[in-house]
Amino acid sequence: MSEHVTATYRVNSEGRTIAHPAHHTLLEVLREACGLTGTKHGCELGECGTCTVLIDGEPQLSCLVLAREVEGAAIDTVEGLEGRDLHPLQKTFADLGAAQCGYCTPGILMAAKALIERKPTPTRADVCEALSGNLCRCTGYIKIIEAVEWAAALCRGESGARPADASLYGVCKEKPHG
Ligand code: FES
Ligand code: FES
Repeated sequence: MSEHVTATYRVNSEGRTIAHPAHHTLLEVLREACGLTGTKHGCELGECGTCTVLIDGEPQLSCLVLAREVEGAAIDTVEGLEGRDLHPLQKTFADLGAAQCGYCTPGILMAAKALIERKPTPTRADVCEALSGNLCRCTGYIKIIEAVEWAAALCRGESGARPADASLYGVCKEKPHG
């Protein structure tokens, strides 16, 4: 039988005391012990970004983090994005169709949230860089990038106008993953 540990995690501002196998990753603890299945299993090798959560505000790959090493840290998952209303990122992703199968979306939303909080007026290159560790097999990235830029504008209190449309096709040289 594997060794177990009991640890208290601060997830989405809520304390949770959990007994789990000592070798479990943060991804496993979030999904299996906390029931927070918004954070997705992908490659479990640190290559796809779908397991991205924020640890003390920084995007981290939860599949590569041993859970007990982040006891006491502030852990934010996609479930914590929504308050009384949708987060601007959730609104813009929905309105622009920036999620198709949606499997990559939780990780991308968390990486984008960290970017917008760190840099409220990101350039397109900043957006592409921030999402460079998040793979999406469906969208071609353009709508994702537009949605992040639009959400940043909404977070700055600017008007709700959606970005100029498909003018961006073919000109996003900094598009993540190329
Ligand atoms: S599941 Fe963590 S990077 Fe792919
Ligand atoms: S929407 Fe399907 S992988 Fe990104």
